[in-house]
Amino acid sequence: MTSPKDELRTGTSDPHLSSSHSCERVLVIFGTRPEAIKLCPLIATLRNSGIDTTVCVTAQHRQMLDQVLAAFEVIPDYDLDLMRPGQTLTGLTARVLAGLEPVLLRVKPSLVIVQGDTTTTLCGSLAAFYARVPVAHVEAGLRTFDLNAPFPEEMNRVVAGRLATLHFAATEWAAENLLHEGIAPESIQVTGNTGIDAVLSISEGIEQGRLSGISLPIDEAKKLIVVTAHRRENFGDAFIRICRAISELAVRDDVQIVWPVHLNPNVQQIVRQTISAERNVLLLAPLDYIPFVDLMRRAYLLITDSGGVQEEGPSFGKPILVLRDKTERPEAVHAGTVKLVGTDTERIVAEARRLLDDQVEYERMGRLHNPYGDGQASGRIAERILSYLNARYSAEVLASVH
Ligand code: UD1
Ligand code: UDP
Repeated sequence: MTSPKDELRTGTSDPHLSSSHSCERVLVIFGTRPEAIKLCPLIATLRNSGIDTTVCVTAQHRQMLDQVLAAFEVIPDYDLDLMRPGQTLTGLTARVLAGLEPVLLRVKPSLVIVQGDTTTTLCGSLAAFYARVPVAHVEAGLRTFDLNAPFPEEMNRVVAGRLATLHFAATEWAAENLLHEGIAPESIQVTGNTGIDAVLSISEGIEQGRLSGISLPIDEAKKLIVVTAHRRENFGDAFIRICRAISELAVRDDVQIVWPVHLNPNVQQIVRQTISAERNVLLLAPLDYIPFVDLMRRAYLLITDSGGVQEEGPSFGKPILVLRDKTERPEAVHAGTVKLVGTDTERIVAEARRLLDDQVEYERMGRLHNPYGDGQASGRIAERILSYLNARYSAEVLASVH
């Protein structure tokens, strides 16, 4: 068996990249599961291309972050170990900002790289700004144009975008959003999403037998529905409605539902209280990334409020019902492979039943088409970062001569 790191090294390294000047160093800052999944391919590519790359994790997530670090064999240079059970947004924000200041002072990077829209993304870019270090924002330009949905992620990515010097947009639509906000066109590059680099390389490794997939008792005779949910704006009543929908679907004998439950206590409590005794539902702890990719490959249908799963699902041609009213990733909705179904119990059940019972509708939605990337995003980002660092180095040399 090879490791995912080997898969990524062969999958995304670009022979055209030459190495950066040794005094220019990048600092990659992340803290949660999705940031890790989307940055590990980039870290491998940056290092492959000779860029001096330091990794700092805030550990906003602990177990779910460690699962990804282990899978991709990334050992952080700095681990702030900041997660607290039931942490608040303000408490976490204060700890991350305070924790990053000494790291920035010590590493003295030429560029900080952040990803996405979490508290770590916001604080990583703000701490870099305070230290007068330029920021590169990966997965820039996603917008719902509603600061309350998703909360607080929409504000986090708007602020990160305002603080960034380099903007790596996954799609043309995301790049357009940045242009409309007055971001200079030359600082924006459309690269595809690095999460697609990760999912494609892992699924190829599973298909070719180099990586081992899931070891769950999956009943091949049944239609597998994979569920994930964790959005803050869904906590409370919306989550109860989602759980009721899943319970109703579980009554059917032709389905098997697998739900790896997010470790946020607000999620754990509601899910385990509401659907503990359903016979066709398997509630699991969060799965390691490789088995989860295998689970998505085997699924008949995905039901989720996750950003990352919305992006990955289309790579497998699986229909996705999204438990949200608005999405910052409209491309797959327009392509017809993702449908926004909100959090109303009856609507979720009706849409899922339609896909379970109507083969024409299932085939219409389940097309293999991924607008979010082609698996080469990390190479494009590394190339741009390399030329940025080299230009910066040349400017510094020129300044020291004059
Ligand atoms: C965070 C991000 C969200 C992202 C999600 C990915 C913010 C504000 N939210 O939400 O954008 O979509 O991660 O999953 O940045 N916990 C554990 N172990 C873990 C992870 C979480 O026990 O490995 C529990 C802890 O009690 C923790 C709580 O979950 O306090 C909440 O974690 P937090 O990162 O604040 O919020 P998420 O809901 O995970
Ligand atoms: N994922 C995982 N194990 C699981 C559930 C999800 O590895 O049990 C992966 C999934 O493939 C995707 C990412 O986690 O890449 C999504 O993370 P999450 O839904 O927590 O955050 P979001 O993408 O919504 O920010």
